Amino acid sequence: MCQLCSAPPSAATNDADVGAFEERFIAAMNEAAMIAMASLGHRTGLFDAMADGEALTSSGLAAKAGLDERYVREWLGAMVCAGIVVLDDGSGTYILPRAHAARLTRTASPNLAVMAQFMPLLSAVEDDIVGCFRNGGGVPYARFGRFHEVMAEESGQTVLPELEASILPLVPRLQRRLADGIAVLDVGCGRARALMQMAERYPKSQFTGLDLSEEAIDWARSTARARGLANIKFRTQDLADFDRAAPLAAYDLITSFDAIHDQPQPMAMIKGIRRALAPGGVYLAQDIKGSGSHAGDRDNPIGTLLYTISCMHCMTVSLAQGGAGLGAMWGRSTAESMFTEAGFGSVEVHELAHDLQNYYYVCRA
Ligand SMILES: C[S@@+](CC[C@H](N)C(=O)[O-])C[C@H]1O[C@@H](n2cnc3c(N)ncnc32)[C@H](O)[C@@H]1O
Repeated sequence: MCQLCSAPPSAATNDADVGAFEERFIAAMNEAAMIAMASLGHRTGLFDAMADGEALTSSGLAAKAGLDERYVREWLGAMVCAGIVVLDDGSGTYILPRAHAARLTRTASPNLAVMAQFMPLLSAVEDDIVGCFRNGGGVPYARFGRFHEVMAEESGQTVLPELEASILPLVPRLQRRLADGIAVLDVGCGRARALMQMAERYPKSQFTGLDLSEEAIDWARSTARARGLANIKFRTQDLADFDRAAPLAAYDLITSFDAIHDQPQPMAMIKGIRRALAPGGVYLAQDIKGSGSHAGDRDNPIGTLLYTISCMHCMTVSLAQGGAGLGAMWGRSTAESMFTEAGFGSVEVHELAHDLQNYYYVCRA
């Protein structure tokens, strides 16, 4: 019998390979459901309410988290089946083991539940994506309700904690120059948490963030104001013509965090960055770690996830702007050729231990 639909076995089910595939696929659906519920656990604060290891009934947890007990109880059922939460049969209480709390709560680093949010976020536009498969075109940024919020949470994990310790040190003496005072630009800055962290640490430097999204720029502006940052400014700007619009030799450091591949005109943006770099300046780019070919990506441990995010977000938002649709998995060799074509004479590629999914490019004239 097929385990899911109770259909009678077809001739093909005699094949051991089919059985093994079926088992794997069903297990994957179960795991995918776990991810959907992990996203809910993060957003509702349920994981955080369990972070201290206290044994709680469903009512106790609901009261602690300020949530509806019936929903909390159903969520706990999924969490127990997934092995994330442990149920004590005798007392009817639930515990989030410390090892799981260490990867699922807001004090955890990294908090994997942050990444889990991408699955429901992408699923919300599935109908639009189906339409694109049939008719071409793309799904615009505006359709992805929580994108900037989730993206900022995600880059808050891959960038912020390592900015000083391992990302900025990729460029020798950069931190000294930042301390002395230089001009810094972040393109496709989104909510610009990395730029704000630098602005706070290096008060003698001047920071500018550019992004198409008014929503992200408004958030960045008001947050910077609330943090009392006087050395940072933001502008809403479409970077599709940055090759022509970029100011000449205006910045000593330009950064982009995960912001090249989903641009409508990535080449124009990179050329603009080259144009905007002052003599002796450096461009530091974080972007997705792909090989540039399906064969080369086959063994990427998170390849399926990255292609999925690309298909249902990065590629489609670029196509929606009439753009190139480069896709997140554009790959290292394409990136290197594009940087070279844009006029960078030196391109270094780095991998950092904390960041499984990105390369770090250091480009100089
Ligand atoms: C993947 S997000 C990265 C955001 C941010 N750097 C971070 O790491 O959190 C890519 C950013 O590129 C911006 N973007 C997309 N198309 C753009 C365009 N045509 N001009 C300027 N920015 C654009 C998006 O609004 C988004 O904030």
